[in-house]
Amino acid sequence: MNKMTVKDINLKGKKVIVRCDFNVPLDDNLNITDDMRIVASIPTIKYILAQDPAKVILMSHLGRPKGQVSEKERLTPVAKQLEKLLNQKVLKLDDCIGDSVKASINNSSEKVILLENLRFYKQEEKNDPEFSKKLADLADIYVNDAFGTAHRAHASTEGIAKFLPAVAGFLLEKEINYLGKAVHNPEKPFVVIMGGAKVSDKIMLIENLMNKADAILIGGAMVFTFFKALGANVGTSRLEADKVDIAKGLLEKAKQKGVKIELGEDFVVATSFDDPKDRKVVTKIEDGWMGLDIGPKTVEIFKQVLSTAKTVVWNGPMGVFEKDEYAGGTKAIADYLANLKDCTTIVGGGDSAAAAKKFNVEDKMTHISTGGGASLEFLEGQELPGIAALKNRASSK
Ligand code: 3PG
Repeated sequence: MNKMTVKDINLKGKKVIVRCDFNVPLDDNLNITDDMRIVASIPTIKYILAQDPAKVILMSHLGRPKGQVSEKERLTPVAKQLEKLLNQKVLKLDDCIGDSVKASINNSSEKVILLENLRFYKQEEKNDPEFSKKLADLADIYVNDAFGTAHRAHASTEGIAKFLPAVAGFLLEKEINYLGKAVHNPEKPFVVIMGGAKVSDKIMLIENLMNKADAILIGGAMVFTFFKALGANVGTSRLEADKVDIAKGLLEKAKQKGVKIELGEDFVVATSFDDPKDRKVVTKIEDGWMGLDIGPKTVEIFKQVLSTAKTVVWNGPMGVFEKDEYAGGTKAIADYLANLKDCTTIVGGGDSAAAAKKFNVEDKMTHISTGGGASLEFLEGQELPGIAALKNRASSK
C-alpha cells in the first residue's frame, strides 16, 4: 500500500482523531447484533494508545439519520461495546463538534473519547469544509480506519484530510492489501463467485474482475438474467429484463477473453417464495416456478472449479440463504471455501459476510471485508475517496 499508516507518524503526546465505521446492526432494544466492525477497529485503537497519545478521539456514523438527531441512532451502545473490548473507560459525548466538545475532550481524564453520530449533521454527507474543519480542530492527527465508509466523500472521511496530517489505520491497510492483491495481482487460478439479487449491482464488478479471473461462478437470483440471455425459460424467477442484453454482452466478452463463466445446471425451485412445501430440484424451469437456490449438481460443478483455485473472491449469496429451505447452496459453497487448502479466500462484505457468519465459517476465511458498498467499489477498480485523501508514502502531501 502506498499510503502512510499510523506506524509512519509520531503519535506521542498528540490528539489523534480516528474515523471508524461503527455502523453496526442494532435490534429493537438497541443491542448490537453483530460487532464485527467494532472488533476490527480495536488493533488500531490499541496501537495508538500504546504510543502514549494525549487523546484518542473516535468518530463514526450510524445508520442514515439524514442530518437530524435520532435517539435510536446514538452511538451509546457502541461506546459500551468499545469499553468491553478495550477493557477501559470510554467517554461518550452527545455531540461531535463545537466548544463544549472541545472542552470535554480537554478536561476529561479519559484517554478514549467517542463523539456522537456524525450524520446528525447534514454537513457530514455534504462534505462541508467548515464541518470538516471543526472536526479537525479537535485533534492534531487524523487516522482513517473506516474502510466500510471509504467510498463516501464525506467531511469525516475525505474533507478532514485537507486540514490535518492524514494516515491509514491497520484495518484500512489490511482491506487495501487483501482486496488490492485480488484485483491487481492474484495468485492463479483466480476464481470469482458472484451472487445476490441483481445483475445491475455487479456489472462493473464482473467487467473488472474478468480482466484477472480464470473463472467466474454465478449463482443467486442474478443468474436468471444470464439464463434468459441464453434463451432459457426462467419461469417466475427474479429477472432484470432490461439487463438481458448486458448479460449477453458479458458472456460474449468472457468468451473472447477466455474466462470461463459457469452458471450451473440445476436449481431449487418453488411456486411461491413464502410457501416452500412444493420445492424441488430441476434442470429446466417451467412456467409458474421460481428459482430460489442453486441445485446439488451446480454445487458439485462449482466445487470442481474451486478445487484448484489459489485465490477466491466471494461476493453475494447463491440463494435466499436467510430461509433454511433455500440456504443449502450458499452453505455448501461456504463450507467448501472454509476447507480449501493453500487458497486465499476473500469474502466481500455485506450479504456474503452475513452468510459466512450464519454458517460459522468466518474464522476459516482468509479475509472477510468489513465493507459492503466499499468493497464492491474497490473490487470494481474504483479509487475510494477516503483512501485517496490520505498521505502518500513518499510525498509530503
Ligand atoms: C455501510 O454500512 O456500508 C457503511 O457504513 C456505509 O453506510 P452508508 O451506505 O449509509 O453510507
